[in-house]
Amino acid sequence: MKTIEWKDGELVLIDQRKLPDSLEYFRCRDYRDVIYAIKNMVVRGAPAIGVTAAFGVAMAELAGEDVEVAAEEIKASRPTAVNLFWAVDRVMKSESPLDEAITMYMEDMETNRAIGRHGAGLIEDGDTVLTHCNAGALACVDYGTALGVIRAAWDDGKRLTVICDETRPVGQGARLSVWEMQQEGIPVKLITDVAAGYLMQTGMIDKVIIGADRIAEGGVANKIGSLMVALAAKRFNVPFYVAAPMSTFDTENSIYDIEIEERDPAEVLYYGGCRIAPQDTEAINPAFDIVPSDLISGIITEKGILDPL
Ligand code: MRU
Repeated sequence: MKTIEWKDGELVLIDQRKLPDSLEYFRCRDYRDVIYAIKNMVVRGAPAIGVTAAFGVAMAELAGEDVEVAAEEIKASRPTAVNLFWAVDRVMKSESPLDEAITMYMEDMETNRAIGRHGAGLIEDGDTVLTHCNAGALACVDYGTALGVIRAAWDDGKRLTVICDETRPVGQGARLSVWEMQQEGIPVKLITDVAAGYLMQTGMIDKVIIGADRIAEGGVANKIGSLMVALAAKRFNVPFYVAAPMSTFDTENSIYDIEIEERDPAEVLYYGGCRIAPQDTEAINPAFDIVPSDLISGIITEKGILDPL
C-alpha cells in the first residue's frame, strides 16, 4: 500500500505517528480530517503533504462545502513546505479538483523515479551515504526523493550503506528512514544527530543526500539539523546533495523570508513519552532550518541536477 491512497471516497493515510511499531491507517472522511492529519504529522514530508492537501480540497468540493474556505484552512495547516501551497493553488485552478488531485498523485510517483534516475549516477559502488530526516516513500506517494536516489542506485547494483541521523525531536530518521531501508533490504545504520560531524571527520561518510521543504533564492529549508550536517560536510569536503521535485521550488521569495514552523515544545521536553528535562523547562522547537546555497553541491530534480538558487 502507498503512503496515501484514495479509496471509496476517503483518503487513507499510513499513520506515520505509529511507525515503526505498528503499521496502521488513518482515514480522512472530510477535509477537516485532512487538516488534522497534516497538522499532527499523521502524514508528513513536503510532497506527501502537497498531494494530501490536494485531495482535501477535492473532498470539500465533493461534499458541497465552500471550497475557498477549505483551501485557506488547508493552507494554514503547516507553513514551511511550499508543496502544500503549490498543490492547493493548482487544484483550485483546475476544472475538477478530484481529477487534478489524482493527476498529481500519479505525477508524484513518476517524478520521484526520475529524481532517482538522475541522482543514482552520483553514487558509487561501496558508498556510505548519510541522510537526515525522512525524504523517502513515506514523505511522498511512494519511492521518495533522497531515499529514491538511494533506491535507484541500489537497483542499479551499487552496494551501499545508508547512515540515518535519528532526527530529533520527532525521530523521522530513526523511526521512518531506517524502517524504509530495512523493508528494502538496503544496509542501514542509525546514529545520533550529534555523531554526524565525527563520522565525516573520520572519513566514514562519502556523500550526504537530504530532501527539501522549500528551495528558494539563497538556499534550502529542510528538517532542523540539516544546517549542522551541511556545515560539517563543507568542512570535511563531503559532497552535500538535496533531492527534491520542481514543485518544492519557490521562485517568489528569498529563503530567509519564509516562515519556519515552530512546533510544540513538548516534542523537545519528552522523548518516547518520558520527560527528559526538569519541570518548567522552557524549550525552543523550530521544525526546519536553512542550508545556504554555498554549502550545497547540487539539487537533484526530475529535470536533472541543478545548481542551488
Ligand atoms: O516535519 P516533516 O517530517 O514534514 O519534515 C520533512 C522533511 O524535512 C523532509 O526532509 C522534506 O519534507 C522532504 S520529503 C521528500
